[in-house]
Amino acid sequence: MPESSAVPALSALPPGVVTLDDHERAAQARLDAATWAYVHGGAGDELTAGRNRQAWQARSLVPRVLRDLTGGHTRTTLLGRTLAHPILIAPTAFHRLVHPDGELATAYAAAAQGAGLVLSAQATVTLESVATAIGADATRGPLWFQLYWQRARDAVRQLVARAEAAGYEAIVLTVDASSSGARDRERRAGFQLPPGITAVNLKPAPTTSAPTPGDSGLFTRLPEGAPTWSDIAWLRSITRLPIVLKGILHEADARQAVHEGAAAIIVSNHGGRTLDTTPATATVLPRLADAVGGAVPLLVDGGIRRGTDVAKALALGASAVLIGRPVIYGLANAGAIGVAHVLRLLRDEFEIAMALCGCRTVADLSADVLLQA
Ligand code: FNR
Ligand code: LAC
Repeated sequence: MPESSAVPALSALPPGVVTLDDHERAAQARLDAATWAYVHGGAGDELTAGRNRQAWQARSLVPRVLRDLTGGHTRTTLLGRTLAHPILIAPTAFHRLVHPDGELATAYAAAAQGAGLVLSAQATVTLESVATAIGADATRGPLWFQLYWQRARDAVRQLVARAEAAGYEAIVLTVDASSSGARDRERRAGFQLPPGITAVNLKPAPTTSAPTPGDSGLFTRLPEGAPTWSDIAWLRSITRLPIVLKGILHEADARQAVHEGAAAIIVSNHGGRTLDTTPATATVLPRLADAVGGAVPLLVDGGIRRGTDVAKALALGASAVLIGRPVIYGLANAGAIGVAHVLRLLRDEFEIAMALCGCRTVADLSADVLLQA
């Protein structure tokens, strides 16, 4: 289908796909090896990517029985909005890499399922076209824009102004990727972005200063491209939108984020794609919940593949969760239909988990339903 078309292609789901892991297997069979290495891979030995998943699995849910579940639901509130359920789509780059409809298909699916959407700074369709596509949908979830810091403050200012004008409801600043990780799997597979797949919302970065001989190229470039705590106040000063910081794992950073006026924190290790060997997000979440003491909502991502994982995240103190790779798998498998299917499966599993834990509302999900092993 031509990329300019406004109507997303409808594709059929492969048979036998009933879980997010089924979507993963089907996507692997469909994508070429290098693209698979990019979307599925993590940094280094992929220990963090593995730990994320294992940490949710290692916790047990202890069912509560014979409770009255009349009128139960999965609704919750986040940054002043009521959500049908606490599942959002994490920002992931380059959706047209896996499907010609790209982020438009993802957005239609998110809206159809009432899921929040965080559009990546490295989206392959314009941020305005995504907002136009779903902005008027009365039952859609929140629409947030993810920001990667740009070398020129003016470029940051322009991006934020565009997102605000287009109707985005929050700016998600990703803070855990001042350098990209050591992506060994990608390098082995020889991954390169194909021609025509670009981050269309970003202007090409101005050339960076060359390191003087003997100096580190990375650390020479960093001060120009990586934000610091002092930039957060400036960012807040140029927009009326709430600022969400994504990629915090340390309690002290969580406390400082609150101090600097972040409206929410996303507990994330970037799906294990930046620093390898970090703790799993499920491991640090309770500590961060203690550290911020309810001052701002915590969201969490990394390895969430089951409705039971969503229930555990909320029981450990998260207000909502985000999913990254499974959305790309659904998109690769069947475009908008595939992404909607991924979201529907997770919602249904979450609802089942709540009911079987005797939880009528998300507020009933507490540490009381969890056992460490
Ligand atoms: C990402 N992630 C990411 N994060 C971000 O802030 N901006 C981005 O552009 C991207 N791009 C991106 C591409 C791909 C292919 C992946 C897999 C991930 C990280 C993402 O938002 C999220 O933190 C993780 O994907 C969550 O882990 P799971 O759900 O993939 O295990
Ligand atoms: C990634 C970058 C785009 O994880 O955040 O691939």
